[in-house]
Amino acid sequence: KKYVAEPFKIKMVEPLRMTTKEERIEKIKEANYNLFALRAEDVYIDLLTDSGTGAMSSNQWAGLMLGDESYSGASSFFKLVESAKDVFGYEYIQPVHQGRAAEKVVMPLLLGEGKVAISNMHFDTTRAHVELTGAKAIDNVVAEALDTTTFAPFKGNMDIEKMEKLISEYGSENVGAIIMTVTNNTAGGQPVSMSNMRDVYAIAQKNNIKVVIDAARYAENAYFIKTREEGYQDKSIKEIVREMFSYGDLLTMSSKKDAIVNMGGLIAIKNDEEMYNDVKARTIPFEGFVSYGGLAGRDLEALAIGLQEGIDYDYLNYRIGQMEYIGSRLEEAGISFQSPVGGHAVFVDAKKVLPHIPYYQYPAQALAVELYIEAGIRSCDIGSYMLDNDPVTGEQREAELELTRLAIPRRVYTQAHLDVVCDAIIAIKERADEIRGYEITWQPKVLRHFTSKLRPV
Ligand code: F0G
Repeated sequence: KKYVAEPFKIKMVEPLRMTTKEERIEKIKEANYNLFALRAEDVYIDLLTDSGTGAMSSNQWAGLMLGDESYSGASSFFKLVESAKDVFGYEYIQPVHQGRAAEKVVMPLLLGEGKVAISNMHFDTTRAHVELTGAKAIDNVVAEALDTTTFAPFKGNMDIEKMEKLISEYGSENVGAIIMTVTNNTAGGQPVSMSNMRDVYAIAQKNNIKVVIDAARYAENAYFIKTREEGYQDKSIKEIVREMFSYGDLLTMSSKKDAIVNMGGLIAIKNDEEMYNDVKARTIPFEGFVSYGGLAGRDLEALAIGLQEGIDYDYLNYRIGQMEYIGSRLEEAGISFQSPVGGHAVFVDAKKVLPHIPYYQYPAQALAVELYIEAGIRSCDIGSYMLDNDPVTGEQREAELELTRLAIPRRVYTQAHLDVVCDAIIAIKERADEIRGYEITWQPKVLRHFTSKLRPV
């Protein structure tokens, strides 16, 4: 597939320090083979996450200068409210400092001891905030999400049949929330179809259950609906976004993704005034007064602009085109990845690239380390290394999939950078049999992938 050329030009550049392979071998050793322990200045192409790493536009930078830093009633707040209402069609808008802050404010209003939340898949922090209320978090994605090789247009969907079973099993009065994550990050940035959102909402309404949309990648999801779902080809991204959010009662959002800001989050409520009052009452002690919600006035201004830029068709066509381009080059080279590519990342199937490395020597981590050594690329393991040991037996658990995630920051890297990434993976495949696995020499009790120390075996 030919790439889609960038729909922007570059006004300001951030120089990158070039390193040699010898330097990188030294740096990754000093980091104990944990990519989180590298200094960013020693990384050439940073694909660790697409969160907060996007490049703001000249309009957003100009907006920073207009930021109104008044404690209460800042004009930037009203600009944000107007912009968010326009994009989502919801009545009440509450800014917060990032996605997990929105979750912290909202989840205890819906959930608690004895309740359950059903989601197409909870993101880690969402799961944590559900569980912190004492509730149980149930992931219920469609089965095709686990099949990496067969094309399905909407692998992020909720399994509707199972959802209905879960509701009757737990009793609708105990299901505090249905959480629709768009796109489905944990399933590899896979989209959710409009018909799935519509059906989920209808069932939720019938059972008197609130639908929360985890809206971090609202625009990428809308692009996939436009390009893959019958009947949406001629609708604008904005019309599609509006319809998507009509199938929810409220949203929580990390604005660090599709709204292209470096920090920010949102809560929005369709029309429930009582819920809005409860949200305000929790925002004030945790995040700050309602008209800034943990953000500077200039952040509100940048977010108001970014929400609109995120739904620009030409931008999205280029953005998703980046993933598809990487996917097509890997496919040509016979390298397996989770197919189709997601909206914000490509997940390389490390089990197939490094078949000689067993799960307990972390093939996806080995590939991530090798990508750094080969070309200064930082990615991360989504596999057995990321899975903590079994809390009961202390045994290493085996992940269903061993994936190395290449998350692409928005508007940051050029076409040439993407080629560097593809060339590096192809070069690694060629010398795959020399690559060794890793063992952990030190690890914390939970979330070990952030801080563990490793060494080659
Ligand atoms: N929901 C989804 C779907 C996310 O992907 C994230 C963050 C959050 C909520 C939490 O938002 O970071 O602003 O507090 N995902 C990042 C990632 C960290 O790398 O995928 P936050």
